[in-house]
Amino acid sequence: MIFYLTTLTNDPTYCTKMKTLLSCSLLFLSIVVFAQKRVRPVDPIDQKVKALLAKMTLEEKVGQLNQYSGTRDVTGPAGDKTTNKLEDIKQGKVGAMLNIRGVKEIRAVQEVAMQSRLKIPLIFGLDVIHGFRVTFPVPLGETASWDLNAIELSARYTGTQAAAAGVNWTFAPMVDIARDPRWGRVMEGAGEDTYLGSLVAKARVRGLQGKGLGNLDAIMACAKHFAAYGAGLAGREYAAADISDQTLLNVYLPPFKAAVDAGVATLMNSFNTVNGVPATGNSYLQRDILKGQWQFKGFVVSDFGSIGELVAHGYAENQEDAARLAITAGSDMDMESRSYILNLTRLVKERKIPVSVIDDAAGRILRKKFELGLFDDPYRFCNEEREKQVLGDLNESLEAARKVGAKSIVLLKNENQVLPLSKKLKSIAVIGPLAKSNDLKGGWSQGWKNDQIVSLYEGLEAKVGNGTKLLYARGCNFNDTLRTGFAEAVETAKNADVIIAAIGESSGMTGEATSRTDISIPGVQEDLIKALVATGKPLVVLIMSGRPLTFNYTADHANSILYTWWLGSQSGNSMADVLFGDYNPSGKLPITFPRVLGQIPIYYNELSTGRPLLNPKDRAWKSVYMDQPNTPKFAFGYGLSYTTFEYQNLKLDKTKMKGTEKLTVTMDLTNTGKYAGEEVVQLYLQDKFASIARPVKELKDFQKVMLKPGETKKLSFVIDKQKLSFFNQKLKWVAEPGEFKLMIGTASDNIKLKSNFELIN
Ligand code: BGC
Repeated sequence: MIFYLTTLTNDPTYCTKMKTLLSCSLLFLSIVVFAQKRVRPVDPIDQKVKALLAKMTLEEKVGQLNQYSGTRDVTGPAGDKTTNKLEDIKQGKVGAMLNIRGVKEIRAVQEVAMQSRLKIPLIFGLDVIHGFRVTFPVPLGETASWDLNAIELSARYTGTQAAAAGVNWTFAPMVDIARDPRWGRVMEGAGEDTYLGSLVAKARVRGLQGKGLGNLDAIMACAKHFAAYGAGLAGREYAAADISDQTLLNVYLPPFKAAVDAGVATLMNSFNTVNGVPATGNSYLQRDILKGQWQFKGFVVSDFGSIGELVAHGYAENQEDAARLAITAGSDMDMESRSYILNLTRLVKERKIPVSVIDDAAGRILRKKFELGLFDDPYRFCNEEREKQVLGDLNESLEAARKVGAKSIVLLKNENQVLPLSKKLKSIAVIGPLAKSNDLKGGWSQGWKNDQIVSLYEGLEAKVGNGTKLLYARGCNFNDTLRTGFAEAVETAKNADVIIAAIGESSGMTGEATSRTDISIPGVQEDLIKALVATGKPLVVLIMSGRPLTFNYTADHANSILYTWWLGSQSGNSMADVLFGDYNPSGKLPITFPRVLGQIPIYYNELSTGRPLLNPKDRAWKSVYMDQPNTPKFAFGYGLSYTTFEYQNLKLDKTKMKGTEKLTVTMDLTNTGKYAGEEVVQLYLQDKFASIARPVKELKDFQKVMLKPGETKKLSFVIDKQKLSFFNQKLKWVAEPGEFKLMIGTASDNIKLKSNFELIN
């Protein structure tokens, strides 16, 4: 080109040639620009979906939006029992099934779908919440590990095992923020914090969906329950969520957005109303936010029967109205209510719903079927050989369950360093209703039978040598009101060097529809602890539950306390690993533990008050209770280790940052104790002055770090504008210039290093 231009300037016809050259270049440029604008890459799946929709009758399209439950697992009130489901499948009136599992059963039903006119395969969904064959800790417990790799890994095994058994879709992860331990479903999520919850949501989606739909070990994830299901009034299941728009956007929605960003295939909406409008019929949530602002391309399934429940909500007059409202609001698939299959075709024919709405919903579902590869081979997940092989080869996943189980345990107290126990003890008394119990899976468990669960007692047996005698007495059962077993328990305890007592809820006390008004340890179990304390023997208490409980007597009198949640298949082994120091506990609470029920809702990131309690002695006219401190029994982020850590040398690379800049924070962490161990270093921020009151602190980063005794590591955190932003009163995502407080600590109530910085324009 340069050569051409230099020769050109000496040419007498320079001007004409130059003009021609310029216009040619312009023409070329505009062709390029035009081409770039016009030629969007062809999405082959889009083409296939469109082609298929063109062949389908309206009835068949509506059929894709209909999901039935099998009869094996009961996860909700059964719909019309007279429905001949297999006949409906044959007629193309069903798009997906749930609650069928195992290759044999799934294949049999898929074969029926292959008899339908267009042979559109079914999707098979199941609540695979914390493990399919191998059961991992309940999601809340696993979140206490704050170990995103371990969490992703357990989801990976879960996805792999479920896929091998013919399942294409799990209704997980539950990403509902939960601030009320009365609600039984707190066990299913990642706790009270939006930042931690968002990272855990991503890890779980990545784990379940693996390298992407279409791989034989990947299943579709489903972020649920959209939205604010955890904010139900007074912790009661299915109750209304009445919260401000700012709280909805700043606290409850980000984990869903994180799941969408991680490529989650589907969302499930929720039973509750959100600020008056049932989530299932909520256009603001599903059309404006999810499918609009977030550009979500997957599909939304209703919760079990929730479309039909729009009538009970007083939102729809009848089932027909419910169907119209739900589909219009963006609920693509009807789980079990029959409202769609019975009404949508007619509603379209009567022009009450445009056919484009049905096409959009059916198109979203068909797209996932193509992505899963079901049109290439409807039986590709139905390989009995593979099922046998994957579900028969569980060693690695059992090992992962044991490891993540140990990481999930939270050491709440360790007076006089009673833990870790010596392996040379002569005798240990193992006491309590959960000491020998194998029912340690917690709610929503699939596949793994109780008799395959390692109990605490079995875990101890496998850990200690012949020199240590294990003595056992149950003492009482969960709900006992009588103390008849106490004498035997006390006698047993007196004969031992150490007592390990295992108490808590029964495994079925958490999960769906298990709200409680009393979150203390049931029955006379804490009285049993009192009797054991009276023996004067060192006392280690293990508390098992899927929710925070209140246990002030135990907290104040036992020497050591481990909160173990429900750990699943490897429960006893993980517990024994921690009890004897083969794993140094590193779990931190993902949810606040109140002192008393009356403090609920209590969470660390509350909004500021105009009359805060700054000095505990100056309580007059302050935001306090007359009968209790404001502080929880155990705060969010709290958890001890057998070693100790020192936080030092906080440095910020600048004290003023522009919105376009990043601020780097460094600090040194040293293991000052005698055990190797992991610490979860937590970084909190407070926006000191803003256009709306901001939380007193918010988790914005953390690192889980392993250190040998005496070792120091330099940690560095990066703060960008995103971390300083929030939805303001006008619901705009903004970072407001001004001062921020930075706090780094070992728990939300134990800040070790502090500083300030300023965001400038
Ligand atoms: C629950 C969902 C679950 C569904 C299907 C409902 O009752 O709320 O979380 O996925 O049942 O079993």
